[in-house]
Amino acid sequence: MQIHISPDAEVLGDALAQRIVAAIQAKPEAVIGLATGSSPLVAYEAWGRRAAQLGLDQSRVRGFALDEYIGLSPEDPRSYHSVIRHDAVDVVGLDPRLVRVPNGGGAASAADEYDVAIREAGGIDVQILGLGRNGHIGFNEPGTAADSRTHVIDLTAETIADNARFFSSSAEVPTTAITQGLGTILEARELVVIATGSAKAAAVAAALEGPVTEDLPASLLQGHPNVHWFIDDAAATLL
Ligand code: GLP
Repeated sequence: MQIHISPDAEVLGDALAQRIVAAIQAKPEAVIGLATGSSPLVAYEAWGRRAAQLGLDQSRVRGFALDEYIGLSPEDPRSYHSVIRHDAVDVVGLDPRLVRVPNGGGAASAADEYDVAIREAGGIDVQILGLGRNGHIGFNEPGTAADSRTHVIDLTAETIADNARFFSSSAEVPTTAITQGLGTILEARELVVIATGSAKAAAVAAALEGPVTEDLPASLLQGHPNVHWFIDDAAATLL
């Protein structure tokens, strides 16, 4: 595990982006796992900037998003289909036809199909992750099995409250989501995790220095052989 700490989130985003760009340079058809949330935005901007500066051919890069709400249409601006398109695909300059987001229509088969699609793509080369305040990754809430595959999950009250800022009220936030499982995420060949701001400090400390437990999903990353953390000073205060 490598830990990069900086006072400046943009420096972190750029360092994370360098790893992704290097993966694409080594393998032009690289498969990148994409995360929503505010934390990775600096990394998407830096990735897009670096790719443009280098004239990097990204026409074969494939993407798989981590998660999606159940019950929002893909066109809804709050759906992760829309967020990934707007915050990642367009900023980075990926081909949207090569980027998949889990189907939030609620069909039981959608989860299995997503895992099959990742496997058929050859697995994820680099998975970008943010962190929930309760240590969730993707939408894998505390208590999710370490070997879980893509599945539908009930969101906790804390996650609903945290994500209410994107809706007009917390009553509008979907209560269920479909997410890559922890087992799915841990199969990625490289994990790059970005955590910024004091609200993440407790989760960061528990994930890095606490026991490995399903009660704090991000702590399971301790068992992955190739994980890079990018943490700003505010999120690193309890380390
Ligand atoms: C949501 C997403 C997570 C993300 C988290 C934190 O719950 N499902 O993938 O890591 O938000 O978001 P932020 O970076 O905005 O704090």
